[in-house]
Amino acid sequence: MSDNENVLLAEDRGQVRILTLNRPEMMNALNFDMLQALKAQFENLRFTREIRVVIITGAGEKAFCAGADLKERATLSEIQVKEFIYTIRNLLTDIESLNKPVISAVNGVALGGGTEIALASDLRVASERASMGLTETRLAIIPGGGGTQRLPRLVGRGKAKELIFTGSRVNGKQALEIGLVNRVCEPERLMDEAVELAETICEAGPIAIEQAKYAIDAGMETDLHTGLAIESNAYWITIPTEDRTEGLTAFREKRKPVYKGK
Ligand code: COA
Repeated sequence: MSDNENVLLAEDRGQVRILTLNRPEMMNALNFDMLQALKAQFENLRFTREIRVVIITGAGEKAFCAGADLKERATLSEIQVKEFIYTIRNLLTDIESLNKPVISAVNGVALGGGTEIALASDLRVASERASMGLTETRLAIIPGGGGTQRLPRLVGRGKAKELIFTGSRVNGKQALEIGLVNRVCEPERLMDEAVELAETICEAGPIAIEQAKYAIDAGMETDLHTGLAIESNAYWITIPTEDRTEGLTAFREKRKPVYKGK
């Protein structure tokens, strides 16, 4: 089915998997092939214990991802457009709910679905050259990969409405100012910054990271009382782990802990 088997590159650096959207001549726009390749990766990553953190970035200097492939879109029937939106929405939910952190390293243009990939990630590091926005209304459609829901949750309702209604873009520094990204850096530093962040996370206990992510994400969608109960249950899961004992032993022995995810 694939017209290009390399639409998505995967490289492992230690415990970090770097996924590179690889259609640079198309600004890494998302077509069905790219969605299927991402889906296969994220299904596999859930049970790949050796990988602790995932980084998503874009090939080339210019783009992270320019959103849906508008050339492909022009050839699709209405039902196929629905299939595309259904597929991307479920894919981004799978990314968001992966049992390990996902970092978007936004190296350039990230429009529509590009910004939605970043929103579905846990953390976002942007290059100063990044240009982010949910520009769909300018095409007389709306964000369909969760953007209308995740953007206001991240930057607030007012700012999200401003960005979505005007379809305007923000650069890396502006994205940092409104809380759309966690960090901004010079373009040459971007991957080092993202990998360093990932490696710092890899020093922590894998089960702790998984449970912390779950507690934050599930708890934020409910009232405080329920959220605290979710946190309590998530904490309880860490108590009988070998890693918790290892953390205490390593502290006593003044050495770095060696966590095994057990
Ligand atoms: N789908 C398909 N092709 C795309 C694309 C997209 N979303 N975005 C860019 N491209 C293609 C261009 O058509 C062009 O291909 P061509 O040389 O065959 O014409 C190539 O990528 C380079 O883009 P270009 O527009 O020449 O570069 P630019 O630097 O002037 O502008 C963008 C870059 C991303 C700002 C501009 O292409 C754009 O606005 N794209 C649409 C983004 C969008 O609306 N996304 C939301 C989709 S819901």
